[in-house]
Amino acid sequence: AAPVPFEGAHQAGIVTPAQDRLYFATFDMTSDEREDLISLLKDWTAAARQMTQGNDVGDFGAVSGSPYAPPEDTGEALGLPPSGLTVTVGFGRSLFVDDKGRARFGLDGQLPERLQDLPSFAGDRLDPAISDGDIAVQACANDPQVAVHAVRNFARIAFGRASVRYSQMGFGRTSSTSTAQVTARNLFGFKDGTANVKVEDTKDVDDFVWVHEDEGPAWLVGGSYLVSRKIDMRIETWDREPLEGQEAIIGRTKGSGGPRSGGDEFVPLDFDAKDETGKPMIDMKSHVRLAHPDVNKGAKLLRRGYNFVDGSNGLGQLSAGLFFIAYQRDPEKQFVQIQRSLAGLQNDLLNEYIVHVGSGLFACPPGVDTKGYWGEKLF
Ligand code: HEM
Repeated sequence: AAPVPFEGAHQAGIVTPAQDRLYFATFDMTSDEREDLISLLKDWTAAARQMTQGNDVGDFGAVSGSPYAPPEDTGEALGLPPSGLTVTVGFGRSLFVDDKGRARFGLDGQLPERLQDLPSFAGDRLDPAISDGDIAVQACANDPQVAVHAVRNFARIAFGRASVRYSQMGFGRTSSTSTAQVTARNLFGFKDGTANVKVEDTKDVDDFVWVHEDEGPAWLVGGSYLVSRKIDMRIETWDREPLEGQEAIIGRTKGSGGPRSGGDEFVPLDFDAKDETGKPMIDMKSHVRLAHPDVNKGAKLLRRGYNFVDGSNGLGQLSAGLFFIAYQRDPEKQFVQIQRSLAGLQNDLLNEYIVHVGSGLFACPPGVDTKGYWGEKLF
């Protein structure tokens, strides 16, 4: 398959049909020098441009340089195809201001108004060690080795300027972002991504994904906001829930993914449909109802999450869940609005089976041309 083009009006890896694998990392700057941030973004852009096209990093790559110097490329992707690799970056609030509200890196006036800390939601059990970060890097590919290679080389390149805060592997894309893809399943066994914003819905993509001209700041126009949430799933508890209950919680059938109100996967949800006893066929507290645009002032998200299994805990339970990623034009009107509807035990029936343990919000700059670098308009 042809590599995914690196250059363009928008960064690749957002509306790009979701690849099968994820390696996500956030980095914290270890230098306070503006010049270090600029050179890092330039070096990362150059490396991503090479790796996404299936090339080694640097002028000499993994094996053609001096035998007396560490290789410019770490080498584990030698001989592998580009595998649909995309690398997408976003900037956290902490890149712009420190915890006393002072500007960092001379980025005064560049903090987007919408790049606020996410509010806390009922039921959150966030671990700061797997939340936030100055810069997020989302590497997606159809081969995990290729995705890991990208993030590893970013970490090597960043040495002395930035270091990894945390990283997360994911597999089995839990969202389709194109109508050409079949809908994959999450670890609860349900199709995930049926009612997603898809690249073919150009109006939705424009309305719900990209930051518009008049919304500024100028450096972010054509970019997007990335929300990440690491969500642990209580797999063993879920697996003891009867099928009927599982379907009621989600609001869709497990086999086809069709609505509980009837019809195949892509038939619209009918929240007014009642069974013979007069009960709504789609539970009012089901996940799809509370996440639906109808109860969220029309809000939609482009979801692009992945399953994860981080081994098992000492009790024989899987440490597994969903690494939720969503892109949007306005985090307050979209993710925050929807998550407020879902959060709290009073609400989404799914909450008994999931716990949010990590979080992040990042402003992703627009794409670059052949000479540009990520975030260039910031400086
Ligand atoms: C829909 C699972 C967390 C937003 C769905 C669907 C499933 C699902 C099975 C139905 C298929 C589809 O339309 O994609 C899960 C699981 C979660 C989770 C297992 C946690 C582990 C979230 C979160 C949000 C969210 C945190 C956003 C705050 C949505 C939206 C829809 C959806 C917007 C589409 C609703 C519609 O318009 O029909 N989810 N989800 N989900 N989910 Fe989630």
